[in-house]
Amino acid sequence: MLVHFVTDEPGKIPAIRAMLEPRYRVAPRLLGADGTQIADGVLMVDADLREARRVDQIKLVLRELRSVTEKLFVVQSHIEHMVSQAYALGATSVVRSSREIVFKLAEIEVAERSAKTDFVVASPATADGAAAFASIFAAIRNGKSISLSDAEFATTQIIGGIAQNGLGAWLDDVRRYHEGTFQHCLLVTGVAIGFALDLGFTYPDVRRLGMAATLHDVGKARIPLSILDKPGRLDPVEDEIMKRHPVIGYELLKDLSGISAEVLDGVRHHHEYLDGSGYSDGLTAEGISDLVRLLTISDIFAALVEQRPYRPPMSREAAYKVLCGMEGKLEGSLVKAFRKVALAA
Ligand SMILES: [Fe+2]
Ligand SMILES: [Fe+2]
Repeated sequence: MLVHFVTDEPGKIPAIRAMLEPRYRVAPRLLGADGTQIADGVLMVDADLREARRVDQIKLVLRELRSVTEKLFVVQSHIEHMVSQAYALGATSVVRSSREIVFKLAEIEVAERSAKTDFVVASPATADGAAAFASIFAAIRNGKSISLSDAEFATTQIIGGIAQNGLGAWLDDVRRYHEGTFQHCLLVTGVAIGFALDLGFTYPDVRRLGMAATLHDVGKARIPLSILDKPGRLDPVEDEIMKRHPVIGYELLKDLSGISAEVLDGVRHHHEYLDGSGYSDGLTAEGISDLVRLLTISDIFAALVEQRPYRPPMSREAAYKVLCGMEGKLEGSLVKAFRKVALAA
């Protein structure tokens, strides 16, 4: 596999060669200099994204190599806004260490090999949906206001993608091309929309649940990445911080014109359980709307089947079994109705 390594520091080239060769062919390129036009393989960018001139040069390279689907950006973990910047530029993954680089490249290699045999390709819906999420998260991280039209666009694209190709193709596509919070948001939205379509909802209702799913975790844009992307279990303090995301999301959205009360309800209450053991407001069954019940089931299922760098995804069958074991917390009749969605191809 060919790795286009684009950097602003010549000194990084020997190090990356030593790390990746001979397993991969490395085509190094200094920003501002001419490079290869061969447009396959993987693009890896390691440059200072805080410099406007560098960003313009990167955009040029990205334009030249636009048919390369995998774009890895190397970003130091403590510079949070560079992560948003990387996604805004079109990164498909952000890696922070040599270990992550090696792991990610191996993963891409496996995915490419299986893509050749099963013909699954990244649909425009996943790419557009991810770009819309990137824009929403970048706006929040940079203290700008959120544009609801980004969320509406993502939702519409995802409805179209699921209606056309089914949920199975969507799950494979998203897990192959996206990671972290974006992967989670895309998966939850796809699952929720698949659920709503299966229940025979009208288009406005599918859209309403889709919007709630698209926006359900926007509060995570304010959670430090060290917590958000932590590979292992969160400690109690980190867990406490993480649990603030529904209220943060609600606060970020509540004054936007055009936002519906149902969507706000979904954002604030998607971690509530019927028996009162959830958060943020400790609601019980009578306080939890139908939309929230559907969203919670979709959220838990999507989180279980997520592809994480350090563990394989749970199978859809196993994830559905987990939902069935949550009696008293989730609505049983909806979990039953979800079976078809969870297990269908
Ligand atoms: Fe959440
Ligand atoms: Fe979530």
